[in-house]
Amino acid sequence: MKQVNVAIVGYGVVGNGVGKILDTQKELLKQKSGVEINLKKVYTRNWNKTFPHPIEEERRAKNLDEILNDENIDIVVELTGGIDFPYNLIIQALDKGKHIVTANKALLAEKGKDVFTKAEEKNLRIGFEAAVAGGIPIIKALREGLVANEIKKIYGILNGTTNYILTSMYKEGKSFSQALKEAQEKGYAEADPTLDINGTDAAHKISILSSLSFGGFVEFSQVYVEGIEKIDTLDIDLGRELGYTLKLLAIAKSHNDEVEIRVHPTFLPSDNPLSKVDGVFNAVMVEGDNVGETMFYGRGAGSFPTASAVVSDIVSIAKSIQLNIGKEIEITSMNWKHKDLNLT
Ligand code: HSE
Repeated sequence: MKQVNVAIVGYGVVGNGVGKILDTQKELLKQKSGVEINLKKVYTRNWNKTFPHPIEEERRAKNLDEILNDENIDIVVELTGGIDFPYNLIIQALDKGKHIVTANKALLAEKGKDVFTKAEEKNLRIGFEAAVAGGIPIIKALREGLVANEIKKIYGILNGTTNYILTSMYKEGKSFSQALKEAQEKGYAEADPTLDINGTDAAHKISILSSLSFGGFVEFSQVYVEGIEKIDTLDIDLGRELGYTLKLLAIAKSHNDEVEIRVHPTFLPSDNPLSKVDGVFNAVMVEGDNVGETMFYGRGAGSFPTASAVVSDIVSIAKSIQLNIGKEIEITSMNWKHKDLNLT
């Protein structure tokens, strides 16, 4: 059995979770998947911090070249955030023949076409389960579990931070700023929480799900986005009195080659299943022509839920390396090349 070597670039909330799972659950992962995964190197710009899962000196990469030039590293796990730095890293890593796992929805929604094209040229894989809905395996569900369906509609709650804020305002009467502060302390928010609050993060995620499901690449810049920055306690209280709960919804509907994609706050009847999705939880409703409606629910942000998704991609890619699967069987790429979609 070949040992598959992994390097993590970016050692923050999610990186620490991935490091801990790979180091402490190695045997379990081997038993469950038949592959042996070794966390060989970790890179962060700042080693002078205290880490929840510390990395010993010999596994600390001093620079990125130490990872990129190591021929024994099979998979680079990109967990840095932003767009330009991870883009350059991923392109360089693909050029060096390394598979990629990323949780970076902004990068995939905005530069996914380049990254997937490059990976395809190199016959390498990009796993991005953690980019959408944290621990919910929605990418695998769309790609595998629902493969027998034409997807008609995807909608739901795709941002944990804003759902945490709206729930705290609705259920505990907290102020917007207090709830946001808590979401940041719990490690749910983006480094720049504006991306959560103004709906951009949810828009990145629904763009990725749409590109995966509707057969063409969705230009993120054309998605209608409205966030929760103008919501105050009065709106929420008024909704409650009338029997409604306010949620930030991401919605994508397909009508042949036309797709409608939007993100905006929505009042839902309080007995709607999405109204009961509280705190950091996300929920994704998917409607397929054969299966009808399905609902996926779980934690949408946070260290271990997101790390769970990252590790699932590492295992999938490690298995494909082990089995030496060629590019004709795609297990971890986007399915966007079949149509030109028009956004309505
Ligand atoms: N900031 C994101 C959220 C993290 O709150 O959902 C997970 O993508």
